[in-house]
Amino acid sequence: MSEHGHNLLGKYIETNFKPNELINKTIIEIGSVREFLDGQNSTDYFTKLCKKYHMNLVSIDMDIECTRNAEKVFKDNNFENGEAINKRGEEYFKDLGFYSKLNFVYLDGYDYDHKQHAEERQESYNRVFGTDINNEECWASHLDMVKQIHLKSDIDTIICFDDIISSDVGKGVTAIPYLFDNGWVMKEYKNRAVIMKLPEVWTDKSDIDEIIDNQFVWA
Ligand SMILES: C[S@@+](CC[C@H](N)C(=O)[O-])C[C@H]1O[C@@H](n2cnc3c(N)ncnc32)[C@H](O)[C@@H]1O
Repeated sequence: MSEHGHNLLGKYIETNFKPNELINKTIIEIGSVREFLDGQNSTDYFTKLCKKYHMNLVSIDMDIECTRNAEKVFKDNNFENGEAINKRGEEYFKDLGFYSKLNFVYLDGYDYDHKQHAEERQESYNRVFGTDINNEECWASHLDMVKQIHLKSDIDTIICFDDIISSDVGKGVTAIPYLFDNGWVMKEYKNRAVIMKLPEVWTDKSDIDEIIDNQFVWA
């Protein structure tokens, strides 16, 4: 079974935090479960993780069917700390207050154009955006979200992206350079997913080396 960004974020959380540090922390997921395929259901994966560590999950999707899917996942798991919101991710982050304390953000929203999207998928995008899936809107959507997240983040905020293929293919083509330009560091890059974080100590030379190394790895 192939691994996705949600596995990377889950493992990062379990490796880098003690259980007592996770209580009441929140994962914000952009892109709720769309198809209940083996290994691809990030909402179910995060629900189980949040249940285990007493965390909260906010799952956001522009498509009402996916929002209903998230609600079903919460119900099936008997999970009470889940909130499914039918909204664009861009609007969700714009509407968030400046003191929101973003803990973990999982960005798996607007699809990039890999030329193999099914017709129903294209129809859903046409309903909400009025166009077929296209890379310009994918990149703009993720860039818009990270600008807001950057404004509202704190030193501990973790951003995980799925579908990061290269510097010109995937969901992070403009969002990742924006984060680099604003001092974020790529902590991990695996299975077409990345973890980004702000360095804790700016004066430490190893942080600067890490930034430079990671930028080369991705490009
Ligand atoms: C790749 S799927 C998410 C898959 C899900 N994370 C999983 O593992 O099952 C992408 C989802 O993002 C949603 N989406 C696209 N653009 C969006 C936007 N601007 N804001 C919120 N959701 C969006 C789509 O409706 C679709 O359900």
